[in-house]
Amino acid sequence: MSAKNPKVAVVGATGAVGREMLEVLAQRQFPASEVVAFASSRSAGGTVEYAGGELTVRELKEDSFAGFDLALFSAGGATSEKFAPLAAKVGCVVVDNSSAWRMDPKCPLVVPEVNPRDLEWHKGIIANPNCSTIQMVVALKPLHDEAKIKRIVVSTYQAVSGTGQKAIVELETQTARLMNGQEVIPQVYPYQIAFNCLPQIDVFLDNGYTKEEMKMVNETKKILGDDTIRVTATTVRVPVFFSHSESVNIETEQKLTVEDVRRILSQSPGIVVADYPEKKIYPMPIDAAGQDDVFVGRIREDESIDNGINLWIVADNIRKGAALNAVQIGEELIRRNLLRVPK
Ligand code: A2P
Repeated sequence: MSAKNPKVAVVGATGAVGREMLEVLAQRQFPASEVVAFASSRSAGGTVEYAGGELTVRELKEDSFAGFDLALFSAGGATSEKFAPLAAKVGCVVVDNSSAWRMDPKCPLVVPEVNPRDLEWHKGIIANPNCSTIQMVVALKPLHDEAKIKRIVVSTYQAVSGTGQKAIVELETQTARLMNGQEVIPQVYPYQIAFNCLPQIDVFLDNGYTKEEMKMVNETKKILGDDTIRVTATTVRVPVFFSHSESVNIETEQKLTVEDVRRILSQSPGIVVADYPEKKIYPMPIDAAGQDDVFVGRIREDESIDNGINLWIVADNIRKGAALNAVQIGEELIRRNLLRVPK
């Protein structure tokens, strides 16, 4: 092992994001000396695919991280809260996909296209943002740099894969049963998700917003490093397997035309502008699924205010929204020689 060829732990390797992390590590030829798959005792001894072969899943234990340089976590908040500090303590840098550490002032919250420099002050745990937030800030950062965004109004149309493997199975099962005239009993979501939309993602908070909505508000400000941006969100679960879609309205200090936005975004990293209304070309979740980029279309001036733009932003929530972003953070840590826990 070395900081250039790290020994990598994938924690939650049997889950929807964990499996994708393994796929992205292999596809991008991440320079790992070794990759080890961890999950709970439930799946220990089983196997997961990696680089054309299989890895045997190990049970995650308190002393699992000795000798590892990097751990990519996607096993839920409770697992991260307990195990991430144990990893960092023995010198293994954690990139955590849960919400456990995102708003901790000691943990950078990083999207490599947006705020890679925040990695410089990491203390061992780096947070991967919420999937809906990642794709939105990738698209909005270049516009913020150019025209300073004052306010963001976002509504999301989020795929079930964001809830994990069990929710993918729930949508499949419910769809098949309903098509065969059978009743469905919701297990993962509070109501039927097939042929329905649920305006609730995560739990409700005292202010009437859901936790997911407030994640978008708070994480956006932290990643863009600007507390003055006003953000409001409505997050909705839709019966789509992969890729989140977002209707985003921004108000800027300086005027941006539709042509400005298309030009700026098409020159920015990680973004594909798909905006040819005359040819009926716009981003859709079925096209974004399995892709790395954030797709932006339906770019229009908001004619109800002086400096407003409407956008439609779509990305694969499991890739850019989770696994890919985490692996990119790992790559950036290596590039910047930051793959070590500061003393
Ligand atoms: P397991 O398969 O053993 O339950 P998803 O978000 O798709 O549901 O996946 C969650 C991932 O987190 C799975 O790999 C799951 O493993 C893993 N996981 C859940 N709880 C723990 C735990 N206490 N320790 C290690 N891994 C866990």
